[in-house]
Amino acid sequence: MNLNCNRSLFPILSSHTHLASCSQGAIAIPVSKAIEDYHQSLLNDGTNWGAALKKADAARGLFAQLIGAEKDEVAILCSVSDVFSSIMSTLTDHPKRKGLVFTDIDFPTVGHILYAQKTFKDHLSIVRSFNNEIPLEQYEKKVSNDTLLTCIPHVNYCNGYKQDVKKIADIVHGKGSLLFVDAYQSAGHIPINVKEMRIDMLATGTRKYLLGIPGVAFSYIRKELAKELNPRVTGWMGQEESAAFDLLNPIPAVGTRRFETGTPAFISIYAAYEALRVLLEVGINNIESHLKNLTQFGLQYGLEKGLSLAGPLTIENRTSLMSFHVENAPLVEAKLRERKIIVSARKNVIRIAPHFYNTQDDIQLALDELSQIV
Ligand SMILES: Cc1ncc(COP(=O)(O)O)c(C=O)c1O
Repeated sequence: MNLNCNRSLFPILSSHTHLASCSQGAIAIPVSKAIEDYHQSLLNDGTNWGAALKKADAARGLFAQLIGAEKDEVAILCSVSDVFSSIMSTLTDHPKRKGLVFTDIDFPTVGHILYAQKTFKDHLSIVRSFNNEIPLEQYEKKVSNDTLLTCIPHVNYCNGYKQDVKKIADIVHGKGSLLFVDAYQSAGHIPINVKEMRIDMLATGTRKYLLGIPGVAFSYIRKELAKELNPRVTGWMGQEESAAFDLLNPIPAVGTRRFETGTPAFISIYAAYEALRVLLEVGINNIESHLKNLTQFGLQYGLEKGLSLAGPLTIENRTSLMSFHVENAPLVEAKLRERKIIVSARKNVIRIAPHFYNTQDDIQLALDELSQIV
């Protein structure tokens, strides 16, 4: 499958310039069809439980392929917040370590969940960013021999800053801490290999660069680790034999599937499965190199237009998520939408987040209009 040849797969592109993959990716025809298939199966067959479970298993398999994991190391929940809450529920009675480290560029849900863990309230440390970047020495300083878990975002959701996960993993593991990676702003457009990057746990949802809809988040937990963890946020779908309906003898599933809870959002799983197929067919390396070219262009063109870039100036330590400072970002987002350009506002920036279906013309148009508005 070629990159831009497939613009016709995305109906929205015939009327809009869609540059909001950091928020909601464009929906491809096969994804839309999968949603409709699920809907139709309920209308026509009345129930589709067995087929839906099979689809969930197949989606686990495709996601595992995307991140270089095994299928048994993947669980399906509903949101990244659910995944992270579930992970935290396993750590409260660790016999030796109490420290939790996170960063000031994490998505807020990470802080919200960590602050909710009363057992850890006196053991939280924050790694601070400087000029939108986190030097590795900061991890050396903050992660200690008491740290149980270090949480990092792969990519900053506000400005596209990308961290070197493998180097952070070396530091974190050197101190005996586990590493959790929030990959919601990276999965689907830059390569991830959890084994090479030595990630212990990872979470991502499907509605951004994974080109699905809300309702599904994938969780990776290294298999040797998963079997030692017992989630308290749990349920019947996390049991080894959920179909046994054994009320009194819970036996958690052997692998990471023990992190699953109840009936998942099957309709979103149908969408996720087709979206993953599209992404794997196009190829993440192809997507990354196409987006590098667009970013190179966008950074330069934004500068020429006098726009004020947030985040790293060069492509080495950033993704294609380009953010520009504006006053009243939600209003600017709305004005661009009136001009049929879909971008995403956060705090004081407008985020322009292309995917493989975008072209240099899309970026140019968005930056022309943005500079006119500001
Ligand atoms: C990096 C990152 N992590 C987590 C979240 C929250 O995900 P969820 O709503 O699935 O909990 C977001 C949502 O925008 C995000 O950008």
